[in-house]
This record gives sequence, structure tokens and C-alpha cells, in this order.
Amino acid sequence: MAKFSILTAVLALASAVQAQCGSGTPHATVTGSGNSFTANRGSTRVYSGSDYRAAIQAALDSIGSGQRVSVMASGSIGAGTISISSGKIFEGCGTINVGNRGGRGAIESLNTQGVQIPYLTMTGNPYFGLRFYGTRDLTLGEITMNLSGGMGIRFERDYAANSNVKMGTIRVTGAGSHAVETWNIDGLTIDRVIARNVGECGLLIQKTTNAQVGLVDGDNVATGTGYATLRFANNNGQNPNGNYNTNIYVDKVVSRGGGRGFFCVSQSGAAVIKEVDLANNGNNAILIENCYNLSIRGGRVNGGGEVRVAARSEFPNTRDVWITLNVDNTSVRESPCGENVNWSLTGNGRRDIC
Ligand SMILES: *[C@@H]1O[C@H](CO)[C@@H](O)[C@H](O)[C@H]1NC(C)=O
Ligand SMILES: *[C@@H]1O[C@H](CO)[C@@H](O)[C@H](O)[C@H]1NC(C)=O
Ligand SMILES: *[C@@H]1O[C@H](CO)[C@@H](O)[C@H](O)[C@H]1NC(C)=O
Ligand SMILES: *[C@@H]1O[C@H](CO)[C@@H](O)[C@H](O)[C@H]1NC(C)=O
Repeated sequence: MAKFSILTAVLALASAVQAQCGSGTPHATVTGSGNSFTANRGSTRVYSGSDYRAAIQAALDSIGSGQRVSVMASGSIGAGTISISSGKIFEGCGTINVGNRGGRGAIESLNTQGVQIPYLTMTGNPYFGLRFYGTRDLTLGEITMNLSGGMGIRFERDYAANSNVKMGTIRVTGAGSHAVETWNIDGLTIDRVIARNVGECGLLIQKTTNAQVGLVDGDNVATGTGYATLRFANNNGQNPNGNYNTNIYVDKVVSRGGGRGFFCVSQSGAAVIKEVDLANNGNNAILIENCYNLSIRGGRVNGGGEVRVAARSEFPNTRDVWITLNVDNTSVRESPCGENVNWSLTGNGRRDIC
């Protein structure tokens, strides 16, 4: 996951994202409004009627691998699911309003290869806005979810793993749960996750290896909970051979208010965070609990809950942590003492470290 894959990621995104949603000549389109929708493949009508979800699915089912559907119409799919099979390119150019289907995604791609969603705008209260497992070479581009509850994007825990997943800019507002939650991805590139007024995490990554994340930016995320704008959990970053050689890279974490800023827990680590900018977090600005080989290379914390290195007895103690940080107006505490924890602190915050 070094220079080569960063370059291929950039190239893949550049080719996946068309100049504009619906531009050029999509192989199939969905048009209409209200209770009248039409799906065409080329000049062949494949659906006409009042069911927006059925129109979208008919358009998707009419194309082959490597072909593109552009949904130009806005509408509501209700508590249903749109399913995207291998190799297909799905563009949501209108606003797709969704309902809540228990345990399921409003849009799903399961056990597929090479699916692309260059554009999507979603509103509503889904169980999962987008749901994935068993994907390979999945690319998400500009995804905007203005939700009134539910979870934004979920990669499932109990199903087949994923590899080579790319995300461009993911903006999620109003999710009741997480904006983005991943499990079981090897090879993940994310440009940006922007979370606003989200109930749980901005980005929660678990059992994920070889990740490159640009910016995670949260405002009023996880208020009143132990979740965080960025959370690593459940052996995130641990390599298949059990070691914690660094393979998770994050450029920047910004968090304002909400619950925690950054939280690493349950035998995660193998990570370098280049910079943090955290202020007025309602819970720990930073909590590092039973994590291994983790660096925060710079940035600042101003106010909010304390910066804490901790450990629970159920897992091996926190070890190999390097933190270079300016901390003002809140305290820094290491308890219990970790192993090989190296602090380079500036700022006015009170210190209680080993
Ligand atoms: C989504 O929310 C953003 C920010 O509040 C707003 O600019 C945009 O118009 C909204 N889009 C839809 C489709 O609701
Ligand atoms: C941390 O990761 C780096 C980079 O892979 C590796 O060289 C180092 O040995 C690791 N340190 C520990 C203590 O795991
Ligand atoms: C926090 O600390 C900085 C630096 O010492 C100081 O300038 C600032 O006034 C303090 N208070 C707030 C609320 O930021
Ligand atoms: C602690 O970190 C500082 C700054 O990065 C570095 O100069 C120093 O060698 C480190 N010490 C240990 C024991 O790793």
C-alpha cells in the first residue's frame, strides 16, 4: 500500500468520476417525477410506472458490466432496496429518498467486483444508506447523505471480506448512528469523510488493513456517547500475522464538540495520524485504550475532555505510542502507565503522565 496503490487509487477515481453526474451518454437513465417514472436503456423503455425503486432497478438490470445508469429523477424508494451487481456504474443525480428496511441497505452491493457509485445524493431515514460485503474494487465518489436517522455507509461484520475499496468525499448529516462504519476491508482509500450532527461515529473502522484516509472532519458527532469523530476498534490495523506494523495512515482529524475526537480501542493500532485539530469535545478529546504501535505526529487539542492513554485488563496493555501534540485548556493523563509511551507535549494542559 505504498506509492503504487496511491497512484492507482487516484487514477481509478479520475476515470470513475465523470465530469458531471449524468453527463455524456449513460447506457440507461431514469427520468420522471411524482408518480411517473421511466427507465430507458438506450432508446428502449424498460420501465414505465409509478414505482421509483422499480424504475431504478429495471435500469440497473438492463445494463451489463462496465455500463452506466444515471438516475436523473428524484423520488422515494420507500423501505426497499436497490441492488447493484458486478461491474455496474450507478449515478444518483436526483435526490433518492429512502425508508428503513430492517437490517438492509437502501442501496446494496454484495459479493461483487468493480462496482462504481460516482455520485449519490440520499435523504431519509435508512437502516443502512449503503450496505456492502464481499466487494472487490468498489469505488464510491461524491456521496451526500442528508439523513434524519439511521446509518450512512456500512460494510458488514459477519459476511465476506472486501478488498480495494475507494471513497472520494463522503458527507453525512443527521445519521442517528455512524456516518461510515467498515469491517473486513483490506485496502481502503478515503479522501474525506465530513460528518455533521451524527449520532455515533464519523468514521469507524474495524478489522481493516492497509488504509489511507485523507480528512475526517466531524462537528457535533457522537454527542453524549463514547463514540468519536474517528474511531479504530476491534483489531483494526492488526496484520494477518498478528503484528502491528504500520498500515493505517490518516492525514488529518478535525472534531468540534460532540463526544470523543479520536478513539482507538480493542487491540487496534498500526496507525499514523499526521495531524489532529480537536476542540471542545464533550468526552475524551483523545482516548487510546489497548492499542499498539500508534503515532499522532502533531496538531492541537483545545478544551473539551482529557487526552487519555488507558487500558482495560481484558486485553494486553497499551504499548508503543508516540504522541506529539499541543494541548491547551484540558488535561493529559496516562493511567495505567502504558509500555513505551513517548509524549512530546506543548501547551498549558495539566499533565499526569508516567
Ligand atoms: C444537504 O445538506 C446540505 C448542507 O446542509 C445542503 O447544502 C444540501 O442542499 C442538502 N441537499 C439535499 C438534497 O437535501
Ligand atoms: C511499528 O510499525 C513500523 C512500521 O511498519 C515498524 O517498523 C515497527 O517495528 C512497528 N513497531 C512496533 C513496536 O510494532
Ligand atoms: C486556551 O488556551 C489558550 C492558550 O493558553 C488561551 O489563549 C485561551 O484563551 C484558552 N481558552 C480558550 C477558551 O480557548
Ligand atoms: C520520543 O519522541 C521524541 C520525539 O519524536 C524522540 O526524539 C525520542 O527519541 C523518542 N524517544 C523514544 C524513547 O522513543
